[in-house]
Amino acid sequence: MTKARVANERSAPVPDAVELIVRKRDQGRLEPAELKHLVEGYTAGRVADYQMSAWLMASLLNGLDESETVALTDAMLHSGRVLELGSVHQPKVDKHSTGGVGDKVSLCLGPLVASCGVAVPMVSGRGLGHTGGTLDKLEAIEGYDTRLDARRFERVVATVGVSIIGQTSELAPADKRIYALRDVTGTVESVPLIVASILSKKLAEGIDALLLDVKVGRGAFMKDLDSARLLGRTLVRVGRRFGKRVSAVLTDMEFPLGRTIGNALEVEEAIDVLRNEGPDDTRELTLDLGARMLVLGGAESGLAAARRRVERTLASGEALECFARMVRAHGGNTRVIEHPEMLPKAPVRVAVPAPRSGFLVRCDALELGLVAVRLGAGRLLAEDAVDPAAGIELAIKPGDRVAKGQPMAWLCVRRRAAATPWLARAAAAFTLGPRPPPARPLVLENIAR
Ligand code: URA
Repeated sequence: MTKARVANERSAPVPDAVELIVRKRDQGRLEPAELKHLVEGYTAGRVADYQMSAWLMASLLNGLDESETVALTDAMLHSGRVLELGSVHQPKVDKHSTGGVGDKVSLCLGPLVASCGVAVPMVSGRGLGHTGGTLDKLEAIEGYDTRLDARRFERVVATVGVSIIGQTSELAPADKRIYALRDVTGTVESVPLIVASILSKKLAEGIDALLLDVKVGRGAFMKDLDSARLLGRTLVRVGRRFGKRVSAVLTDMEFPLGRTIGNALEVEEAIDVLRNEGPDDTRELTLDLGARMLVLGGAESGLAAARRRVERTLASGEALECFARMVRAHGGNTRVIEHPEMLPKAPVRVAVPAPRSGFLVRCDALELGLVAVRLGAGRLLAEDAVDPAAGIELAIKPGDRVAKGQPMAWLCVRRRAAATPWLARAAAAFTLGPRPPPARPLVLENIAR
């Protein structure tokens, strides 16, 4: 027997896709080499969409243990380039939110943290379901190019301190394809699959540390604290297996964040926050997450000092200047920063009147997110275009008093007829009561391990 033959017999051939599907269907586990083979096969077109879909469904139903989750993340991470960002000399920290309604924090946070000396290489996504996406928001700025290649991305991070781009075919391409498949095969809601998806693209950015903002509540994918905690803890543990500093916070997404839902509207609100103004909740979450990122990046050793630093930096106007430099580096029109009225504007604002007087006690983020999508701010089909001007402006926030007939919100549309079918649904998202609700904390829990 030749040496080659012996070697072949020792390294057992990797089973084909059908065997891997059957094993997961029957509650078995896959070895790292098998997961790598499956992901590589899918990325190269040797494993068909229907086979990957079947395996994803089997995994959603029967779960993946932690070592399978690590191996799947690793295989997806290495399906494309893993950046090193060698020309960026500051610590590199990113933030990922699991998705919410009115969450424009990345737009303010990236420039704020970069202005404090921590680089932020950020690969973001588009709106998904009822949740908004940072890329759609940035594209409301005329000329802003979210599709920089890896070389330009690195140059912008090195010179400006922050760059926000979309996932290219260079970075974790397996995630891009698998995510699109999960979106249409009912296989999104699986903690191991979500973890592998998020971490594979974030680790490909060349970061040293990652802060995860796990949203909880009506407007989030995780509706209750237990499932959010499980996701947060798994993200932290798996991320650390890759040698990165990772922590997570659970934050409230029962109500929409801030006063706007919709792309250009949210950019305008983000600019307000960068001017050290804007709604309290958007501003507070930006400062809180910013302080945590400085600690993760080693720029500050404690949260209290980090908080003072981000507050000072926001007040100084440096974060706003940094945002302008990022927009310019991406080819965007920076005049919108001085003149937000140049952002796409809906010509018609249709008021949603209060049915009676009272205090706002609930404001259903899921329902308002769904209405905003129907108005054109998001997509019903992956190939749909978004209308950057469409969305919802909130006239009241929880605890505010409103008189009967006064607006609770405005639906921002191109034609009145586009708002009419959604008025009743938008109104039903608001619950008025005789007294203000108890105050709710924005940051619910910190997950450090
Ligand atoms: N966000 C992601 O990037 N991936 C998921 O699977 C879910 C949310």
